[in-house]
Amino acid sequence: MRDLNAIGRIGIGNHGSVTRLVFSIKELRSRQVLIHLMRQAGLKIQVDAIGNIFGRLDGADPKAPALLAGSHLDTVIHGGKYDGPVGVIGALEAVRTIRENKIPLRAPLEVVCFIGEESSRFGFSTLGSSLVAGEVQPKDLTNAVDAQGTKLADVLSSLGISPRNLFRLARDPKSMKAYLELHIEQGPILEAKAKRIGLVTSIAAPSRFKVIFAGRADHSGTTPMEMRKDALVAAAQLIEYVEKICRKFSSMEKGRVVGTVGAMKIEPGVINAVPGRTELSIDIRSTSAPAKDKVARLVKQRGAAIARDRGIAIEVLNIRAEDPVPLDKRLLRVTRQLCDEKAIDYEIMPSGAGHDAMQMAKITPAGMIFIPSRRGISHNPLEWTDPDDIALGAQLLMETMIRVANEPV
Ligand code: GLV
Ligand code: MN
Ligand code: MN
Repeated sequence: MRDLNAIGRIGIGNHGSVTRLVFSIKELRSRQVLIHLMRQAGLKIQVDAIGNIFGRLDGADPKAPALLAGSHLDTVIHGGKYDGPVGVIGALEAVRTIRENKIPLRAPLEVVCFIGEESSRFGFSTLGSSLVAGEVQPKDLTNAVDAQGTKLADVLSSLGISPRNLFRLARDPKSMKAYLELHIEQGPILEAKAKRIGLVTSIAAPSRFKVIFAGRADHSGTTPMEMRKDALVAAAQLIEYVEKICRKFSSMEKGRVVGTVGAMKIEPGVINAVPGRTELSIDIRSTSAPAKDKVARLVKQRGAAIARDRGIAIEVLNIRAEDPVPLDKRLLRVTRQLCDEKAIDYEIMPSGAGHDAMQMAKITPAGMIFIPSRRGISHNPLEWTDPDDIALGAQLLMETMIRVANEPV
């Protein structure tokens, strides 16, 4: 808790909110603190070109593939202090405890901090783990731009990572045995069922795109209603449609879909002008790829119909469309068995939120452990998890690490 709180003070703002956007000075500071903590813990530290951090504790067989555990330290704007850091500090504490108690290990352990898990700055999520998984193509960066107009591709170039050498950050799958991630649930299920542990089966994937309506900015006093090309009213219609269509896809069997318009730019954005241009950032997610793709298609079609009716232009910029990711069944069996042995009541569940585990699952067996979020609140300063639950989650993570590190390859 001391380390978690130390990280949580970096980027703290009003009402206890935490803001550490990727590549900001605060996010960088949080990674420096982590490196310091890892060094104190006696880990061998490696930082790759983009800033992913790996802190290693060797096992009896230093050549054996390593078991990785971690998460991320960057946050949304005005988030909380648990989303991400619980998994990084939880893994660090697990490795420290293993070392202090001289618990024998066959495989090496690595505590990992992935950079840029949150999509809040560039609309691009799980940046560091996607690069490690070799999952980023140059074209994926085309529409990743922050609110100030800074391009993600330019930030990467400034770090010496050109579009042509993105693949160099990919890690050899043979160097890894598995990846484990402890995370807060960020939803209400565990609390509602009075369970302290969630074992994750799969991760819902997002389709993300921007819709730009281009109408015409006009004087708000002189332009008759029937002569306007109002881009904001068009946006309002589409936002309402996103909610309506996702509510139709609310049953689990057919594939539940959630959709959010979480950001919008309005131009010129003044009280006395008809809005001439709006840019909506749309996030559609589901654990069913066909359901998600269908909703994304319907939203784009509706946008086109709205633009046609109003005689304005529309442009759709795709950011990234991903498929839902199943997690490793064998790791789930290990965590399940440990819960049974320790009489911990658990829930087997999918994850609605995205995580670095969804990228790591593409190159190594990946598993996730959830702990409850009070009232299910996350991406909000009110995010809170009971320290006892954090301890239980970290304990389960540690025992899973010991078991997996010592089982035959
Ligand atoms: C990560 O927090 C996400 O947006 O799912
Ligand atoms: Mn998050
Ligand atoms: Mn997270």
